[in-house]
Amino acid sequence: MKQFLSVVLFGAVAVALVSAAGAEGEISFEYHRYEELRKALVSVWLQCPSITRIYTIGESFEGRELLVLEMSDNPGTHEPGEPEFKYIANMHGNEAVGRELLIYLAQYLCNQYQQGNETIIDLVHNTRIHLMPSMNPDGFEKAASQPGEIKDWFVGRSNAQEVDLNRNFPDLDRIIYINEREGGANNHLLQNMKKAVDENTKLAPETKAVIHWIMDIPFVLSANLHGGDVVANYPYDETRTGSTHEYSASPDDVMFKSLAKAYSIYNPVMSDPRRPPCRKNDDDSSFKDGITNGGAWYSVPGGMQDFNYLSSNCFEITLELSCDKFPEEDTLKNYWEQNRNSLVNYIEQVHRGVKGFVRDLQGNPISNATISVEGIDHDMTTAKDGDYWRLLAPGNYKVAASAPGYLTVIKKVAVPYTPATRVDFELESLMERKEEEREELMDWWKMMSETLNF
Ligand SMILES: *[C@@H]1O[C@H](CO)[C@@H](O)[C@H](O)[C@H]1NC(C)=O
Ligand SMILES: *[C@@H]1O[C@H](CO)[C@@H](O)[C@H](O)[C@H]1NC(C)=O
Ligand SMILES: [Zn+2]
Repeated sequence: MKQFLSVVLFGAVAVALVSAAGAEGEISFEYHRYEELRKALVSVWLQCPSITRIYTIGESFEGRELLVLEMSDNPGTHEPGEPEFKYIANMHGNEAVGRELLIYLAQYLCNQYQQGNETIIDLVHNTRIHLMPSMNPDGFEKAASQPGEIKDWFVGRSNAQEVDLNRNFPDLDRIIYINEREGGANNHLLQNMKKAVDENTKLAPETKAVIHWIMDIPFVLSANLHGGDVVANYPYDETRTGSTHEYSASPDDVMFKSLAKAYSIYNPVMSDPRRPPCRKNDDDSSFKDGITNGGAWYSVPGGMQDFNYLSSNCFEITLELSCDKFPEEDTLKNYWEQNRNSLVNYIEQVHRGVKGFVRDLQGNPISNATISVEGIDHDMTTAKDGDYWRLLAPGNYKVAASAPGYLTVIKKVAVPYTPATRVDFELESLMERKEEEREELMDWWKMMSETLNF
């Protein structure tokens, strides 16, 4: 993760540009080319400096920055116990609606925060939100520079090396499907393999940067914004058997459905049961209530969504936001209105399930402890401060915290829809336990000796 070094200089330039970018507090419903995107993010930062930060996670193949706008009451730091959320858009460079929606979302959150909207203030104070409007800025420039309002269906989809970024991630589904049958890890499948990622020449620079981002920040929830259809798609994306269409449930199927619905339900177009397919011959038979399992729709190997779930603690879904990938500019306001409540409501889903801290008996945090839930074959791990978040649908659960060298603790938890239930764990180290036992034995021996008058 590289700091946004040019931000000071850039900021000075941007002051002059704010007036050009539109009055404070207004959302500019237009397309933003690369330079305009930078300016739009900088003007949000200038308007709301105490709750925002701009940083870059790396560069595209052609050297454009992969910019992120962070929103939090303490920008730049992970606060122990506070969950982290991200939105990534425009990974297919020609799918432009998500890119614009994230810019508008940044402007909206900043405006509402300043206007004292309690919902937004609570959200920003209790969540670290990261918005990446474009994961494929090279592809977008290519798509956007086509003349005329009607864009080709494919131009700009891939990055500048012709790599489809949503097929470029390490295919961890294949590994988890083997582990399911033969035993093996059920999470963090890329553990201790950072070096292999860096040396892998098949990974595009955009993919590598995002992999590092996913590994470095303890994200809890995410969505990946696409276009070309209208649906909220959840894991797994790749089918177990390799067939083209097959329902491919993950261990968190119940929660993923609930998350996808939390998006679709507030989008009147996505959730409309009478919405005709985008194109006459599209097979939407797997869509229900505006959501679909990825594999049931069509199998995608090497996608980013499943990679998040299988390499980190982060749950990600994929949002298809528009039939047109690059619709006419005067429709953008309409897309914002369709998606605004969904975008905000989905971020709020990060505050569900159970969360808390794992510590030893002296109160020291235990990082990388395992949090497992009986009946769900997908474990989470604690972050640096011993903090964890375990998204769960409403119900009664047995949650266990364990770490090498400690006695495992299991707790029963009742989980409502929201907010997340706080459950802390104190683990006794086995060394301490042995020491205690030894002392008890010595005391007993002393007592026996005294009473027997040795
Ligand atoms: C505050 O923000 C929420 C979430 O976006 C929104 O539903 C609500 O209308 C806003 N309130 C006002 C007064 O604008
Ligand atoms: C976390 O724990 C797992 C298993 O307990 C181990 O394989 C891994 O190396 C640990 N990771 C770190 C960063 O310590
Ligand atoms: Zn796409």
